[in-house]
Amino acid sequence: MPAWVIDKYGGNDVLRFTKNASFPIINYPNEVIVKVFAAGLNPIDVSMRGGYGAATLSVKRDPLNINQSGSEFPLVLGRDVSGVIMECGLDVKYFRERDEVWAAIPPWKQGSLAEFVVLSANEVSHKPKSLSHTEAAAIPYVATTAWSALVNTGGLNKDNCAKKRVLILGASGGVGTFAIQMLKAWGAHVTVTCSQNAERFVKGLGADGVVDYTAGPVEEPLGALEKFDLILDNVGGDTERWALNLLKPWTGAKYVTLVTPFLQNTDRLGIADGMMQTAATVATKAFKHLVKGVHYRWGFFAPSGPALDEIREMVDAGQIRPVVEETFSFSQVPQAMEKVEKGHARGKTVVQISKGGDD
Ligand SMILES: NC(=O)c1ccc[n+]([C@@H]2O[C@H](COP(=O)([O-])OP(=O)(O)OC[C@H]3O[C@@H](n4cnc5c(N)ncnc54)[C@H](OP(=O)(O)O)[C@@H]3O)[C@@H](O)[C@H]2O)c1
Repeated sequence: MPAWVIDKYGGNDVLRFTKNASFPIINYPNEVIVKVFAAGLNPIDVSMRGGYGAATLSVKRDPLNINQSGSEFPLVLGRDVSGVIMECGLDVKYFRERDEVWAAIPPWKQGSLAEFVVLSANEVSHKPKSLSHTEAAAIPYVATTAWSALVNTGGLNKDNCAKKRVLILGASGGVGTFAIQMLKAWGAHVTVTCSQNAERFVKGLGADGVVDYTAGPVEEPLGALEKFDLILDNVGGDTERWALNLLKPWTGAKYVTLVTPFLQNTDRLGIADGMMQTAATVATKAFKHLVKGVHYRWGFFAPSGPALDEIREMVDAGQIRPVVEETFSFSQVPQAMEKVEKGHARGKTVVQISKGGDD
């Protein structure tokens, strides 16, 4: 089948188009094959192209370490998919052939820059009827990441957000633009940081307050505001030095960062030492902040069909809209990847893989 693959880790020049990639097959009865209409790209695709997470992802792909090193190649990137079900495993009850679906693809599986992709049925969800495939492909990876960070790790949901004050650091990119909309739909008060030229954009998505990080250190203007119940950090680096001081102490307030050293540690130190280092780091930080009355947490992307089912309802109710920065054709995958690599996104980069449905 046609696909963009990589045969080694590196820069954009390792991307190779082939018409002869292996057609995915159903290995387990709960799997489905999806014909890809549109694929969304994320910063993780650029990182994975360069080998980020290779050690941990290899263990996920081959837990018994049977295959030789490099057996992940040819590797297909692309974490978001919108398309139709082509074939269902024997145990799949919730989907039928030709159902229109969307999904976020776990990084240890072959991605969506290909004509077909195989997924577990519990990673897949029916696509919102109100969106085209290219619009739908802008949502699943950032949405399931934001959902995992805010709902599973941060403890927020539609019933407990009404009086909550939330701060999003780095709100103008993929995860942030989704998180603003979800939190506003649930009634939270949302303050964000982004560059000045994104101010109008994030306000248009519902942000109540905006602080420009390019105008100088943001800790000062943020420190003058009422304290927060939850902080979602999409920026990392030195934010941890000051951000936790902005939380309401002894109220259960949480800081959730998506920028963690987990995969760098396992890439650098190997699985065992890397996991130990990671556990020690997170435990030390969590304890250090717990004694000051605030919770320190790491958030991770988690593939989830059921989360996407709930997100579909919010999309079809008009509470969340896709934010597509630019759409590329299948032949333009290197340009699309270059665009993501440049950063400073205002939403998502999407690749149209084949014409279909309502596109
Ligand atoms: N742990 C996980 O499983 C997981 C999953 C998904 C994503 N992530 C991480 O989460 C982060 C966000 O992902 P994303 O997809 O939203 O990335 P993205 O689309 O590249 O957006 C990042 C945004 O951050 C803004 N930014 C950069 N420096 C900033 C600063 N100092 N203060 C405030 N804003 C700043 C940029 O906006 P401006 O143009 O306005 O500068 C950019 O739009 C990335 O670091 C990604 O690696 C982690």
